[in-house]
Amino acid sequence: MRVAIFASGTGSNLAAIADHSGLKIAGLEIVQLICDQPAALVIQKAQQRQIPVTVLTPKTFVNRQAYEQAIVEQLAPLAIDYVLLAGYMRIITPVLLNAYPKRIINIHPALLPAFPGIHSIQEAYTAQVTETGVTVHYIDEGVDTGPIIAQQAVALKPGESLAELEQRIHAVEHQLYPAVIQTLIKQNQKEHSFK
Ligand code: GRF
Repeated sequence: MRVAIFASGTGSNLAAIADHSGLKIAGLEIVQLICDQPAALVIQKAQQRQIPVTVLTPKTFVNRQAYEQAIVEQLAPLAIDYVLLAGYMRIITPVLLNAYPKRIINIHPALLPAFPGIHSIQEAYTAQVTETGVTVHYIDEGVDTGPIIAQQAVALKPGESLAELEQRIHAVEHQLYPAVIQTLIKQNQKEHSFK
């Protein structure tokens, strides 16, 4: 299965996916990183793993649609099965959604629909909920609103710091995303065998 990863940040999820031996054996090919931040650490992580990198800076395009059209054109010859968002800090518009219907997936560090948006771990921590967690879901036009594929709960420990909770959530992400991708690979193989 051929995927593109979209990311804006440190790239720990990209690394977890790329380094997962089960995914390699199952035939996962990460054929492109799309990054919107020229200084993001994820770029180095991709390069270290021989993953081709394309950096597209949104402000150099006339609007979001033109920016996404450039991504669609970059990906078109690569025969991508799925787009995996891994810390990609932008809303996806219909330009990409229509190019990859039900083929764009995101990981979010909370139990959606609770705590959507960019400060989910901190908000759950401050709210002192008994549990938060991780969600993998399909993307739609909303912010963290698409159909849920998998979730894993993480119970808050009394007295733990925000940094500790963040670390535990990220550790769960690094397990859950590869597990979901493994399931997608099996689905994708079935779909191709019926063609
Ligand atoms: C992760 O917490 C992910 O759930 C969220 O952004 C973060 C990306 O982290 N969408 P990294 O860049 O993969 O380390």
